[in-house]
Amino acid sequence: MIPENTGPAAVIVLAAGAGTRMKSRTPKILHEIGGLSMVGHALRAARSINPQRLAIVVRHERDLVESHVAALDPQAVIVDQDDVPGTGRAVEAALQALHAEQDLAGTVVVTYGDVPLLSGELLTELVATHERDGNAVTVLTAVLDDATGYGRILRGDDGSVTGIREHKDATGAERLIREVNSGIYAFDAAVLREALGKVTTDNAQGEKYLTDVLGLARESGGRVAAVVTADRWQVEGANDRVQLAALGAELNRRTVEAWMRAGVTVVDPATTWIDSSVTLDEDVRLLPNTQLHGATSVARDAVVGPDTTLTDVTVGEGATVIRTHGSGSVIGPRAAVGPFTYLRPGTVLGEKGKIGAFYETKNVTIGRGSKLSHLGYAGDAEIGEDTNIGCGNITANYDGEKKHRTVIGSGVRTGSNTVFVAPVTVGDGAYSGAGAVIRKDVPAGALALSVAAQRNAEGWVPAHRPGTRSAELAQAATKDSSSTPASTEEGK
Ligand code: UD1
Ligand code: MG
Repeated sequence: MIPENTGPAAVIVLAAGAGTRMKSRTPKILHEIGGLSMVGHALRAARSINPQRLAIVVRHERDLVESHVAALDPQAVIVDQDDVPGTGRAVEAALQALHAEQDLAGTVVVTYGDVPLLSGELLTELVATHERDGNAVTVLTAVLDDATGYGRILRGDDGSVTGIREHKDATGAERLIREVNSGIYAFDAAVLREALGKVTTDNAQGEKYLTDVLGLARESGGRVAAVVTADRWQVEGANDRVQLAALGAELNRRTVEAWMRAGVTVVDPATTWIDSSVTLDEDVRLLPNTQLHGATSVARDAVVGPDTTLTDVTVGEGATVIRTHGSGSVIGPRAAVGPFTYLRPGTVLGEKGKIGAFYETKNVTIGRGSKLSHLGYAGDAEIGEDTNIGCGNITANYDGEKKHRTVIGSGVRTGSNTVFVAPVTVGDGAYSGAGAVIRKDVPAGALALSVAAQRNAEGWVPAHRPGTRSAELAQAATKDSSSTPASTEEGK
């Protein structure tokens, strides 16, 4: 089903190039910035102008690209380019595929799969200018300090665009032109189809150039114009990993700035990385060296960082998350996490709960007000409300073959170093003694003790370690305390 859309007749995203300079087994356009592949960004910009049809031209690593695109945008039409090289051939293939489905008339926009910062706003401006002025072709251009490699915009004496010359085909004088073709255009569909029929491969690269359409359209009486953007980042492609990183940094700078304008405090924008898919409320505070990825969301007044990486984590209002590495988790309102905490998927921490220093959690639901303050592991467990888990507690959830659940009630107090050997259930209000190994269910209100009574072998150290500092100190202490009642029998 084709959705009802009010935008141009079609957007064609070109993505058949090889991208050899990435030196990667991953197709170039699948490399990510801001948590989304380059082609994902291109599809998003294309979709944002509500085209009636969206086609993407593929060839290199076709199957990988196809499945990736299908997952991101199931309605995109995947078009295969044949062995004839060139951007003109790519667009021709797309027109054929789209036309075979349904007549194509009106505006056709062409973009690239490797230009990730292009915004829907700029595309909207391009299409609006194109349609308002009744142009045959409108090309998006930019003026660069170094135009090497780009197609140059040729203009007549009256300043009107007369054509595009590829760098490799340009004369010395033409190479001095600094206005370049971005490769992004709006075309009239009929003009485009007719002109492409005339484009040859008679040029320095033996390719069917899409750029030749401009000269041809003008020759047959069409109006050809340019929209010049001052924002070069929006037309910049990534050909290698150096450019990929530069584009990624710029995208992040823009994302962070937009959040600051929306009311988020970012103490150190340079070390704060926010994926385009993240959402933040007003009065969130992000401390230095924080990375927020995927579907992470942070609610009002929460403080995240420093040194925190969250992927697909929901942070509740007023929560604090310090020096934490977390994924697939929910942190309740006013809850506290960290420092040095590892939240693995399925961790759900209730309101005002706490997961403190050196804790690892996985697949555990922790009720409101319950605290796991220091040094431990909680996995495959359910913990009620207002329970205090002592220092060094662990759920022994794995029997070597299978995982088992631990269920701990509300109002429970566990002693330090308690081990819950799952499957096991601890009732409401129960206590456990220090070092308890809980192998059997503990009824509500019971104190669970599993450690053998302490036995002191008196005088053992002086007898077995004579002459040591320990022995000396022990002997001195025994002498000192000989007048006071013996305390060595404690803990019997
Ligand atoms: C192209 C333009 C050039 C412009 C530059 C901007 C032409 C002839 N030249 O040059 O004027 O300044 O982009 O970056 O159009 N592609 C295909 N099929 C192909 C060839 C390319 O789909 O057969 C796709 C690529 O995947 C890429 C885009 O088209 O996304 C541009 O291809 P590329 O080879 O980088 O073109 P340039 O030579 O850089
Ligand atoms: Mg290029």
